[in-house]
Amino acid sequence: MDWRAVLVLLSIVGGVFTQNCRGEELKPRACENVCDENGQCKIRAALLLPKNTTFYASLPVVEPVLDLAIQSQAIRNAFPPWLSFEWTTYDVTDCDAAYAVISAIDAYNDCAHVFFGPACDFALASVARITKFLGNSGIPLITTGGFTFDFVQQKQTCQDEFYMLVRTSPLGFKDMAYFIINVMRHYDWRQLLLINEPEAQVDVAGKSTCHLMMKTFANFLKIEDIIYTPWDTTSDGGLNHTENLKFYLGYKYTTLLYESSAFAEYVGARGGHLLASTIHDYLIREGFHIIGRELQGNIPAIETLRHWVGFDYSSKSVFCPRGYWD
Ligand SMILES: *[C@@H]1O[C@H](CO)[C@@H](O)[C@H](O)[C@H]1NC(C)=O
Ligand SMILES: *[C@@H]1O[C@H](CO)[C@@H](O)[C@H](O)[C@H]1NC(C)=O
Repeated sequence: MDWRAVLVLLSIVGGVFTQNCRGEELKPRACENVCDENGQCKIRAALLLPKNTTFYASLPVVEPVLDLAIQSQAIRNAFPPWLSFEWTTYDVTDCDAAYAVISAIDAYNDCAHVFFGPACDFALASVARITKFLGNSGIPLITTGGFTFDFVQQKQTCQDEFYMLVRTSPLGFKDMAYFIINVMRHYDWRQLLLINEPEAQVDVAGKSTCHLMMKTFANFLKIEDIIYTPWDTTSDGGLNHTENLKFYLGYKYTTLLYESSAFAEYVGARGGHLLASTIHDYLIREGFHIIGRELQGNIPAIETLRHWVGFDYSSKSVFCPRGYWD
């Protein structure tokens, strides 16, 4: 965590704006001042995290880190000597959104200047939507969470949903989506099966972590014109994973188009046919449903594919230059 950023943020917020995002003149609360009437200056931080150590960002893990950070010389140098720092912990029970909101209200009543956390996406969303309305100038919220794509959108004005939120995490689900998209582009692949267990990995970003990741992937795959089929493994339709995999992949991806005369220079006459029938045999043996069709010289391959498979699942990526399979 970068305390310099916190300080800069606090001073900007304190110095430039005299209103929070509601645009009303609020009754000033003396406790919100950084310096009290005796000239003692202190930043009060609220740690909004779960006690439950199932979650990566939990109080028992983060508090000792904060302790160490405060002792380090680099951090001490970042604070002016007349300014001290203290924090109060608030248990966001099981990283739940409702507990997160009530903890944030408690922290506001205790006159916190800055929130650290929540780190789970749903809990964070609930709190980060209202922090811009709290106090005289809004309360900055700093978090290592915020993976879903909503959180990486602009947050620089009151109109932005998560204004006052600062993400310190280097990676969001959007970055992971573009990693996949770049791999797809590199190989000129156009279709994708997304296999998803919605409630897995709750330790990372709380409830529905994988569901939110999938939502983010879907969002960017759509933007980038990549066809995807989502498969939520919790709705199995009474079939086991093997059968479902065949269901999701089998009918759409196992079309075998071949040109009999292809590969003649390697295997002699009808090389393409030989190769295709060998692949065909192996796929059948593995239990895949398969459509095998010979390409006719005068009909473009794409037409054959559309004719047998349908428009939805035909794309350039399924063609090899001369022997054809997918
Ligand atoms: C911690 O959170 C997990 C996930 O929500 C839950 O299954 C577990 O019961 C919780 N543990 C305690 C001690 O509350
Ligand atoms: C899945 O179900 C099929 C059909 O009932 C069965 O033959 C196969 O062994 C099952 N596979 C697994 C991994 O349980």
